[in-house]
Amino acid sequence: MSQHMTTETELLPGLADFPRAKLFSSPTDIEPLPRLGKRLGIDLKVKRDDLLPVAMGGNKIRQLEYYLGEAIARQADCVLITGAVQSNFVRLCAACARKLGLEPHIQLENRVPKDDATYSHSGNVLLNQLLGATIHYYSGEQTEAAADANLDALAEDLRRKGKSPYVIHLGTDHPPLGGLGYARAAAEMFLQYEATGQKPDHVVLGSGSGLTHAGFLAGVRTIGWNMPVHGICVRRPATEQAPRILKRATEICRMLGSGYSVEDKDISVDDRALDPGYGLLNDAVRNAMEYAAYDEGLLLDPVYTGRVLAGMIGLTKQGLIEHGQSVAFIHTGGLPAIFAYQRELI
Ligand SMILES: Cc1ncc(COP(=O)(O)O)c(C=O)c1O
Repeated sequence: MSQHMTTETELLPGLADFPRAKLFSSPTDIEPLPRLGKRLGIDLKVKRDDLLPVAMGGNKIRQLEYYLGEAIARQADCVLITGAVQSNFVRLCAACARKLGLEPHIQLENRVPKDDATYSHSGNVLLNQLLGATIHYYSGEQTEAAADANLDALAEDLRRKGKSPYVIHLGTDHPPLGGLGYARAAAEMFLQYEATGQKPDHVVLGSGSGLTHAGFLAGVRTIGWNMPVHGICVRRPATEQAPRILKRATEICRMLGSGYSVEDKDISVDDRALDPGYGLLNDAVRNAMEYAAYDEGLLLDPVYTGRVLAGMIGLTKQGLIEHGQSVAFIHTGGLPAIFAYQRELI
């Protein structure tokens, strides 16, 4: 279907139905990782979404193009978001909001049982302060619904003060607009590979809120690529993540007007690197960070991409990714958290 198509919106025309606040212009590079690939026995490439050009980069910039596009279309003057204390989404929302002239209000949730000074004040927290975001700390019930409800209450306060807030919710009862950013990334990557005449046998990425995973999956299947897209669980177990990805990818396909209907067989989630839980390190993650740094000078973060490489190594050991196969690893960023995890990393 893609023979003569040269742009993302030619490949995925449904994208044009959604307002987009353009935050970057070019495709991110896809680089070979020959030494790390040799270590794992595969032909490994990395798509450098960690280098997206806003406030230290990361996947959430692609998602924010669609949330903030809607915010601007609704004439909002401020934006609210919630996340863990070291959330990259929150930091990038603050930065992208500033870039577009919107006021950022962020809610930081006590999700990770850590309270040392670097975790509480360095990394993303420091950047939020530099960006002049209004910060609210939330220590209530740890569910997405409760965090969203508190965010809605903060938005109501702002409305009473004459502001026009736009809320980016976490819960799956809100439309997965951010997933459109990763459907678009799938089209971008398709065009990059097509130009070289190659195609990866597998794609590996982090699966948290699931919109990177579900958006990418919806995008590639709509375009007609059928390779496995492996989501490495960073937040919740595979038994909970799989139905979440199925639901979100189905919704994103519908939003795109895709003819593809996502099925269980499309969903690959692996949680073998998740222990002891969200935002907490294990030896496999530490080793993965070292391999990338020593073999390739490539920095990974302790919460997301380090875990994703650890998960990918697991997939090669299980034979799900076979010796010699080609793998595209989406580097989703998260690097400021390295500084917040200083105590555990050295
Ligand atoms: C660096 C990084 N990688 C991956 C993810 C996971 O992306 P998603 O929430 O879209 O599943 C996140 C989420 O915050 C992230 O910050």
